[in-house]
Amino acid sequence: MKYKIGSALKEDFPIFTQNRDLVFLDNAASCQKPAVVLEAMDKLYRNFYANVHRGSYNIAEIVTSLYEDAREKIARFINAASAREIIFTRNATAALNLAARSLSIDFRAGDIVLLTELEHHASLVPWQEAGHRHNLKLEFIPVTPDGRLDINKARQQIKSKPKVLVMTAMSNVTGTVTEVEELVDLAKKAGAITIIDAAQAVQHKKIDVQEINCDLLAFSSHKLFGPSGLGILWGREELLEKMPPVEYGGHMIKEVNYQTASYASIPDKFEAGTPPIAEVIGLGAAIDFINQISMTTVESYEKELTAYCLEQFTKIPNLKLIGPKDNKNRGAIFSFVIDGLHPHDLATILDSIGIAIRAGHHCVMPLHSKFGIPATARASFTIYNGEEDMQALIFGLNKARQIIS
Ligand code: ALA
Repeated sequence: MKYKIGSALKEDFPIFTQNRDLVFLDNAASCQKPAVVLEAMDKLYRNFYANVHRGSYNIAEIVTSLYEDAREKIARFINAASAREIIFTRNATAALNLAARSLSIDFRAGDIVLLTELEHHASLVPWQEAGHRHNLKLEFIPVTPDGRLDINKARQQIKSKPKVLVMTAMSNVTGTVTEVEELVDLAKKAGAITIIDAAQAVQHKKIDVQEINCDLLAFSSHKLFGPSGLGILWGREELLEKMPPVEYGGHMIKEVNYQTASYASIPDKFEAGTPPIAEVIGLGAAIDFINQISMTTVESYEKELTAYCLEQFTKIPNLKLIGPKDNKNRGAIFSFVIDGLHPHDLATILDSIGIAIRAGHHCVMPLHSKFGIPATARASFTIYNGEEDMQALIFGLNKARQIIS
């Protein structure tokens, strides 16, 4: 294999070769970019940049074919039935907004939207808005004290025939990997449309949309080692063809006159205007990179790293993990509080010794309120992190405790 997973992989990421002391533990917010992604985008801009799907000249045709090749790679990466099912958006949030706005047009007052208490604001707030517009009922699958979904309760709730089930495949706060296959199966049998937020999961585990059997699934490029400014909405072809577009303009039309317009079929129908061209090609390069490592290797490496981190966290007195304490169905995302130490102060102290973590509510305010805490500190690991990053964090946490004692 060309790439070595773990700390050795940092050699393939310019940010780490130029900042040897950087301990980057904010991968749930965004990941660093390997040289191959930067090179693919640089090469595009330097050698043959042009808009896609418009120009009938050589470089425009080269770019269009690179761009559509990337769509094919993304489709294969998540085992979509066809590249037509891959819609490019601005980010995962835009993908989830598109789904909520387009689907809810046909919803009726009293229709139930079933979500989970783990949802990120990007999954939740668009449905709150749709709920206000169409008088929908929002219900929530509860979270247990250790940050898992209450599956028995979920099974009951699905019996009330929700119109849609919206759930994360992996929490960006607790690291919980949710029971998507089981709940999607039950929800579909009850007649619901199923939407999966895979923004966190896509970086850590193999996503196979045909195996999950959901209807729509969203993720972003920047959490998959690709550039920012690009999100993906995957959807089942027959559903996407039925869904109305929510943005209008160039490229998404079939015929236009001064009074009216008809719309193109998918994916164009949902891709109004000039798309994120270099970003799509950059994500294609990121997927080539991950495929060379393989998602199976990613999963087994991260399982070991998660076990190691969980054990190390037990060594810090008064540290409380918000999320599963065992290594079953969880990933290497650790949100925590330490008695007497505000998460923002902790993040500042860690930053002073080159350790980057996130502090706050991580765009999941309701879950923090449920646990009765305004904020947590969060350390999130990925394929280029190793045990020495965890050791650096433990050193930093002990130092912070000394400073405040
Ligand atoms: N949702 C991202 C995070 O958890 C941005 O940080």
